[in-house]
Amino acid sequence: MSVGMTLTKFLHEEQRRYPNSSGNFTALFSDLVIAAKIISSHVRRAGLAGILGAAGTQNVHGEEVQKLDELANETFIKTMEHGGHLSAMASEEMDDIIHVDGKYPRGNYVILFDPLDGSSNIDVNISVGTIFSILKIEKGKNVTTKDFLKPGMEQVCAGYILYGSSTMLVYTTGHGVHGFTLDPSVGEFFLSHKDIKIPEKGKIFSINEGNSRHWLPGTALYIEKAKSNGAGMSARYVGSLVADFHRNLLKGGIFLYPADMKSTKGKLRLMYEANPLAFIVEQAGGAASDGEGRIMEKTPSELHQRTPLIIGSKADVEEAVSFWKVPTA
Ligand code: AHG
Ligand code: MN
Ligand code: MN
Repeated sequence: MSVGMTLTKFLHEEQRRYPNSSGNFTALFSDLVIAAKIISSHVRRAGLAGILGAAGTQNVHGEEVQKLDELANETFIKTMEHGGHLSAMASEEMDDIIHVDGKYPRGNYVILFDPLDGSSNIDVNISVGTIFSILKIEKGKNVTTKDFLKPGMEQVCAGYILYGSSTMLVYTTGHGVHGFTLDPSVGEFFLSHKDIKIPEKGKIFSINEGNSRHWLPGTALYIEKAKSNGAGMSARYVGSLVADFHRNLLKGGIFLYPADMKSTKGKLRLMYEANPLAFIVEQAGGAASDGEGRIMEKTPSELHQRTPLIIGSKADVEEAVSFWKVPTA
């Protein structure tokens, strides 16, 4: 009788790639998986648990914080801080970095996360997600924000949890992209999508067309091309980055949240939205650009800085970016 490849077993097999491994990363990731299961159970019964609706507070970006945002944020922090594998964390919902409580030993990783992505979709039962990015630091270092401001190339792990029709965890450590589906009757994630590769070119474009009056010419020209008979593309836009990204990762396609006259630096966050998804998409054979260059090569200046994001099938991203590149005379 085959039990199937559980995430726990997969992590142990991955660890065997590093004979001198301390097992710290595996233990850290196992804490993260527990957080994922807890958040998943809350998302699944959000309408019942009286946690719907805006919590009435605003996050650091002046955005209404939904109760589920706060709950996901607290769950992540409380589940991850006592393991002794992290030195600090950074959350979309928190102004400053969160040092691990003095009563726990400090580890040699830091994690950045968007605890609940797609918050505007919580109350209407549309898929939301969690996005995370892990960096290695000197063991036990008393980190400052500066230790987090590393280019995406330095991530040791990146992933997301998608609370969709099923709960999936998709991650990479630089050895391919693997997807696991939660079996709620067992409470374990099972390998369902090994070594995910994104099609070179897709038939889907994802952009918020409500912003078209703010678009720069390059965006308008590219979207016009995407809608033309020759391209034969379909528009799909959920409004939850993780959901739009995951669909395009599996089917092929392009997601764009470009800079425009309203959001001159783009809307999405470099450190815990763009970078982790860029690591994943590149490992799956795709591309991620800010319209000028590779997302993963950007040197961050602030923890919560925004970036334009064009991400997905390589051929589609390259074509879209070519519409921004003003031909040199
Ligand atoms: P978050 O809920 O973490 O703030 O993220 C919301 C993001 C992202 O999930 C989505 O792609 C984008 O906001 C949608 O923005 P618009 O509603 O402006 O299209
Ligand atoms: Mn988000
Ligand atoms: Mn969020």
